[in-house]
Parts: sequence; structure tokens; C-alpha cells
Amino acid sequence: MKVEFVERKPTGVKSDALVFLLTMDDLKSAKEGRRERVSPLFGEHRRQIEAALNAGNFEGDKGQELTIYSVGIHRVVFLIGTGDKSQLTNEKIRRAAAIGIKAARGSKAKSVIISTLDSVVEQLSDYETVHSIVEGAKLGLYKFDKYLTQEKEKSGLETVVVAIEDVGSAIGKKAARDAEILCDAVCLTRDLANAPANEVYPEVLAEIASDVAKKYHIRARILDEKQIRKLKMGGLLAVNAGSVRPPRFITLEYKGNPRSRSWYAIVGKGITFDSGGISIKPSANMAEMKMDMSGAAAVIGAMQAAAALKIPVNVVGIAPCTENLPSGSAYKPGDVVTTMSGITIEVDNTDAEGRIVLSDGLYYAQRYRPKAIIDLATLTGACVVALGMHATGMFGTNEDVMAQLKEAGEKTYERVWQMPIYEEYEKQIKSDIADVKNVGGRWAGAITAALFLKRFVGDYPWVHLDIAGTAILEEATDYAPKGGSGVGVRLLTQFFKQVASQ
Ligand code: BES
Ligand code: ZN
Ligand code: ZN
Repeated sequence: MKVEFVERKPTGVKSDALVFLLTMDDLKSAKEGRRERVSPLFGEHRRQIEAALNAGNFEGDKGQELTIYSVGIHRVVFLIGTGDKSQLTNEKIRRAAAIGIKAARGSKAKSVIISTLDSVVEQLSDYETVHSIVEGAKLGLYKFDKYLTQEKEKSGLETVVVAIEDVGSAIGKKAARDAEILCDAVCLTRDLANAPANEVYPEVLAEIASDVAKKYHIRARILDEKQIRKLKMGGLLAVNAGSVRPPRFITLEYKGNPRSRSWYAIVGKGITFDSGGISIKPSANMAEMKMDMSGAAAVIGAMQAAAALKIPVNVVGIAPCTENLPSGSAYKPGDVVTTMSGITIEVDNTDAEGRIVLSDGLYYAQRYRPKAIIDLATLTGACVVALGMHATGMFGTNEDVMAQLKEAGEKTYERVWQMPIYEEYEKQIKSDIADVKNVGGRWAGAITAALFLKRFVGDYPWVHLDIAGTAILEEATDYAPKGGSGVGVRLLTQFFKQVASQ
């Protein structure tokens, strides 16, 4: 599907479907006959659209939809409400665009025009308006249909044109292009998460990371089992022991600011399937655990986005990857594991495997003397209990980095919520026979997991993002179907933009 921007009145551009995003205030002026606001947009369609508006109860409330057939050169027009003008946000635009484009797809349109009034653009900015429309459209159309061979509901949608008369061509085209690049990275991350574990296992994930690196001038260094052994990554090897598939340790270096020697490190949990191991999980919903590599997938996606958008920042992406399976050779409760850092772990539960592989990933990140280490992991069910699917749990040692992530979270709507890591919780992960234990008992499970990770980051500024609830969606949102959400890619890309501009 192609996305374009044109600085034109939408009614003049030929297409099967036309999607208008309107605020409640715009609708009110149209209904009150104050046409000077609305009429210029509707142009020659004015009479027909106003008649439909007057006949129905469409108020432009957020998410509200009105469909009008055969309007001028367009087969169908969709009016989508964005709510109160004073309450307008980028997120409401993303959602309205997604609702509109899905309606257009449902109507079998091949070409769609999306537009909005200058009242919307006034409230946001030219760049943000177009960017958010394209985000909503691209992400809203995402489907994981690779394996549907029989009933593939072919979306014949070929072109999406964002047409806004009051937005300059240069800025509009740049916003559309940037959003397209970003959404391609989000969709890559969604595809990787949604892919079944028999197709995407550590070797394949590493192969895909290499392909991304080749395409976007990123340097990839993939460590195989022999190299992982040589580095004494005992955490990754312990979790891998039960699997017949070899582990991989992915590193990707993007040097967007060659004059600077400072790095940001992003580290993602790459469990391509988490059965729980010997501490096996119940079979209900176990299939979801093919997405337990969502952290690693977000790292790969964010590296692609940063490089493709040429953000002037240096980032190393790190992902320790393995399956977690039970077998005769699997690691067991009671085992003591020596990690690359030398720190020993008493394994109390083999299902708390993410923190064990991350111990080596986080320790390895210290090699870059990073300005900050940010890890992303579908780490705990406890985080899902606490925050559900609408906020990522954030834990860390550096308030500045957390403030930047919070701001990026609000902008992208990949919101993060800070949780405490008070030292009083530490005693829950104390072991009698090793330096640390991999589980901390029933209470505050997301916090004790974070405190475990903290042992492996030295004195470097560090933030942990528990994406267990936000990466794996149990139900669809307006612009993400059920399954892998691709969370983290837009958040980190926005974070890099922010720190690069400082
Ligand atoms: N991958 C899971 C966490 C998870 C649960 C992610 C639900 C997404 C949805 C993780 O490896 C795990 O099993 N954690 C255990 C830890 C426990 C044994 C201390 C958990 O959360 O139950
Ligand atoms: Zn687990
Ligand atoms: Zn896991």
C-alpha cells in the first residue's frame, strides 16, 4: 500500500472512498448553517453532506462514524468524529484515521483519501496532524494474514492519499514519509511477535536482525553458541539447556552521530517460546508465549526505525535469544547458575527465565559505557495484574531518562507508568546459597523482577520496561489487532528523537 500527501482540497482528488475527520465543533457549525468553516472542505459535495448531517444524529463525538454513499466522484464518504476541538490530541487523530481507513477497506475501496479541517491542524501542528493520520491508517490496516491461504480477505487497498489544503506540501510529504518509515518498523515488530515459534526461533530471529542491518547500514554482530560459551554467558546457556535449538546473542550497532562516542543501549528479552521449562506453565494460553520475544522484536524494530529515519544518535541493540523448554537436559529448580558478570543465581522457578537471560544481556551492554541502558521485556504476569494493557511498567535508577520516556510515552500514547524499586523489596530475592534468587515470592512480582535486573547494570543509568501487558494484546484496539502490538518501537524512536535534539 502506498501513502502520499497532497496539498489539495480532498474533493478534487479522485478516489473510491473519502474519509473526513471532523471535530464536534466543526459539525456544530455545519448544522447551524455556519458554512464558512465546513463548506470549503466539502466543496461541491456540500449539499449532500449537509443533508446527511441534518438527517442523522452524527455529532462528531470521538469515534462516531457516518457513512454517505455516492457523493460526487466518490463511491462512499465516511465522516469520523474526533470529539471536542479543545480536547483534540494526536491519539484521537490516530484512532479516527484508523476507524476511517478500516471502514474504507470494508467498503472494498482501492483508493482512499483522508482529510481533515484546518481546525484540527490549528490545534495540533501541520507535521503532527499528517504524521498521526498516517500512523492511524498504516497501523490500523495491519493484519497478520501470512498463513491464511484459503480465505485471505484480500484488502485491495492500493493507495492512501492524505489531502489537506492548509498544510504545505514539503512538510506534509515529510510527515507522511516519516510516519510510513516508523510504521513499517512497528509492523516488522508485530510480524515477529505474531509469528509462530516453529517459524521464528533464535537462529531465524538473528537472521532477520542481520537482514535489517544490511538494509539500513547497521552493524550486526550475532554471537552463536560457541561464542556465547566463550563469553561465559551462563544465564543464557542455562535457559537454553532444555532446547534443541541453539541460542543466539544479537547485537546491532547504529552510529547515527559519528562525532559522538556515547551510546544508548537497548536490551530486549528474546524468549522465542516460553513453556515455563521444568516449572511448566498450564496449557491454557501457553500459545501466547510465542510472543515472549516481544522485547527483542521491539529492539530490532526500534533499530530499524532509528536508522531509517537517520536520527543522529548512537544506539546499540542487544537481544539474548533462546527457547525455554523442559527436557532431560533442561535447567532445573535448585540449580545455581554463574552468569557472565560472575554473579551467581539460584534458580527457584525455571519460568522466571527472562531475568536470567537478561542478566547476560544487561551485563554485556556495560561494554559500551552507555549513557543509559533501557531494557524491554515481557517479564512478569504481575505487571499485567497491576497495569493491564494500557500502560507499560517502568522501573529505573535515573529520573532524567525516566522523565524523557514518560514524555515520549505521552506523545506516542505508548504510555509508561513508574513503579518503585525500594531497597526493602530486596530481601525477597535473597538466596541462602547464591548471590541472588530468581523469584521473590508472591507479592510485588514485577518489582522484585526489576530489582533482580538491577544487579546486572553496574552503576550505569538504567530503565526497565515491563511490556508483558502492552506487547501482547488480548483484545484489539482501534489501531492494533489482538496479538503483538509492536509496543516500544514508537516509544523508543520518540525517545531517541528527543535526546538527539538536546
Ligand atoms: N513470560 C512470562 C511473563 C508473562 C506472563 C508475559 C504473561 C506475558 C504474559 C515470564 O517468563 C514468566 O513466566 N514469569 C513468571 C515469573 C514467576 C515464575 C516468578 C510469572 O510472571 O508468573
Ligand atoms: Zn517464564
Ligand atoms: Zn518469559
